[in-house]
Amino acid sequence: MHINIQSAISLKKYNTFGIEEIATNFIEITDPIQLLSAFEEGIFEKDFLTLGGGSNILFTKPYQGYIIKINIRGIQATTLKQDIFITASAGEIWNDLVWYCINNNYNGLENMALIPGTVGASPVQNIGAYGTELMNIFYSCVAFDTLEGVFRIFHNEDCKFSYRDSIFKSEQKGRYIITEVTYKLDTLPSINTTYGAISKELENRNITNPTIRDIAEVVSAIRVEKLPDPSTVGNAGSFFKNPIISLEQYNRLKELFPNIISFTMPNNQIKLAAGWLIEQCEWKGKVVGQAGVWKNQALVLINIHSATGNEIFELSSKIINDVYQKFNVKLEREVNIF
Ligand code: EPU
Repeated sequence: MHINIQSAISLKKYNTFGIEEIATNFIEITDPIQLLSAFEEGIFEKDFLTLGGGSNILFTKPYQGYIIKINIRGIQATTLKQDIFITASAGEIWNDLVWYCINNNYNGLENMALIPGTVGASPVQNIGAYGTELMNIFYSCVAFDTLEGVFRIFHNEDCKFSYRDSIFKSEQKGRYIITEVTYKLDTLPSINTTYGAISKELENRNITNPTIRDIAEVVSAIRVEKLPDPSTVGNAGSFFKNPIISLEQYNRLKELFPNIISFTMPNNQIKLAAGWLIEQCEWKGKVVGQAGVWKNQALVLINIHSATGNEIFELSSKIINDVYQKFNVKLEREVNIF
């Protein structure tokens, strides 16, 4: 099947940071079979990078290899007893899928409304927000193995999901191109209002018996208030992960910083709110050249107008350094750097 290789393409509209870099080669995939053609043409023996919505990436230099932009579309629903299996192609916009499910009364995605990006990217870093994460509703995905030239199926346990991580981001990074994802949803609503901000906003709206539509609307409103809209302010959501530390280290920090914000994890581990750590280092709302820290959420770095990827990267290094000096905690970048 034909593949069209474009050359010297600007990546500005393909990354939500809005960074201007050039890709030497650019291939748009609209049908999974095109991946087989690309394999036969030896594309995957060279440098390549798979791109979904470009919402978790920072380009710091021109990309000399092949950008593989996934734009495969389609959504299908199949019912089995009280379960609904939704199979969505990798190029579908995540938030469109969320609203498709809400409009059809399929429960489970509503807490993740308005997360930027595509379906194909959703398992890679196990996206999550407001009390849930993808691994709770992920059933399986189909992915093209760029080493062997075959399509493979991954079930939930094969993906080794953990906080903002999966095999697609760690041990098998770059190897597989996800072409479709199947989510297992419920027809019976199980409303999740565990996240404080959701219950507070429901209270403000006098909603006592929320539907999944209410939850998605509330979550969307909270996101709009806290996070910059990438169509007007370039950003990639949380730039850093929330660091996970031992209970011993937490106890030492708690003595020094009694207000530290934390969440208990399994296995005696503690997750710290990186936004709070960064705010304590007085970075919130600061601007350095064309790069900045978002005024309402210090975990988010922004492109003021015409930042280079390096400016954003350097700002992130300064923040990592300051947080380390003050708290002895090493922040890790959540965003992929190229
Ligand atoms: N906080 C501060 N200062 C800040 C930001 C946050 O003190 O500048 C405090 C908040 O007051 C709150 C705590 O830190 O007590 C947690 O903040 P928030 O609820 O905003 O969540 P988060 O841990 O900062 C994570 C995800 C977000 C997701 C939210 C809501 C990560 C890296 N980020 O942020 O995901 O939307 O929870 O569930 O886990 C993303 O991954 O791109 C993303 C936006």
